Amino acid sequence: MLSLPEIQDLVSKKIDAFNRKNGKSGIYGPITYILALGGKRLRPALSIMSAQLFSDELEDAIHPALAVEVFHNFTLMHDDIMDNAPLRRGKATVHEKWNSNTAILSGDAMMIQAYELLSKTNTEKFPEIFRVFNQTALEVCEGQQQDMDFEKRTDVTLEEYLEMIRLKTSVLLAGAMKIGAILGGASKADADRMYRFGENIGLAFQLLDDYLDVFGDEAKVGKLKGGDIIADKKTYLQILALENAEGANKEVIQYWLGKKPKDPTEKVRAVTSIFVELQIDKLVLEKVKSFHQMAMSDLAALEISEERKTSLRELAEQMLGREH
Ligand code: IPE
Ligand code: IPE
Ligand code: MG
Ligand code: MG
Ligand code: MG
Repeated sequence: MLSLPEIQDLVSKKIDAFNRKNGKSGIYGPITYILALGGKRLRPALSIMSAQLFSDELEDAIHPALAVEVFHNFTLMHDDIMDNAPLRRGKATVHEKWNSNTAILSGDAMMIQAYELLSKTNTEKFPEIFRVFNQTALEVCEGQQQDMDFEKRTDVTLEEYLEMIRLKTSVLLAGAMKIGAILGGASKADADRMYRFGENIGLAFQLLDDYLDVFGDEAKVGKLKGGDIIADKKTYLQILALENAEGANKEVIQYWLGKKPKDPTEKVRAVTSIFVELQIDKLVLEKVKSFHQMAMSDLAALEISEERKTSLRELAEQMLGREH
């Protein structure tokens, strides 16, 4: 059985090899750039770990895990254009360093390369994992569209928000885990349990991402602090503020929505201080904890040895104890 650091090491070696093969010229330059910036490599680790819950034969699980990571990085390259984000993993985003057209095209190429990696999965289960991958990929796009639509609205409900983040973020974690579980030989019930685990851990993960966007240390998070406030994203924090602010605070929140000042410092400062006054930072972290607990119950329900579950518990804790 591989430990979590061994799986992470395996993934980073495979990504390094992928980068060497792609090289740095033409459309491959930005691909190699974003993949070499690192990132936590959570999705391939989750996928391989899910296979390992059910089998010690991991060979088949590696290509789809890499496919998911390349797909994830493609979504980030396009997400940064959509979110007008200048920083990713502490460095200039691809559309800043090159331009948006390059980021669009290199992103497209990455999606094709993700499918190419997936097609190297040598198993009779390929049609099944192909379906999971396709459904997941389409749902991520649906979630991303909702995320952008919500920028223009002020009446987004918490329920709508949770469904939006389930689509844009959770399903990729869940799909990666389900693919791993299927390749490891899990029963249908267990593969579905892994998917639910991924959904819940993904909701916790995106809620924490929204929290870190406002309250994290920019140097550690590697993204522009307050980027979600600047873009009028309807995060859990913003929705709670819109629902709970009263009087002058409500006016301030409403005043800033839709405003795009050249220097966004005051917008970020004013909105953040209302989040703090309403103790929304604490409410978000409680919600993170509650989705974490739901994921742990999904894991507990799996009929496999406790020993095999340990690495997954550890990874879930790493994901939610993250500062970046
Ligand atoms: C960023 O994902 C996008 C979200 C879903 C929040 P990660 O935080 O996993 O990004 P990297 O790959 O580690 O940089
Ligand atoms: C990430 O949402 C979802 C996808 C990339 C599909 P965010 O827009 O919050 O991710 P970051 O914060 O830019 O990493
Ligand atoms: Mg973004
Ligand atoms: Mg986004
Ligand atoms: Mg974010």
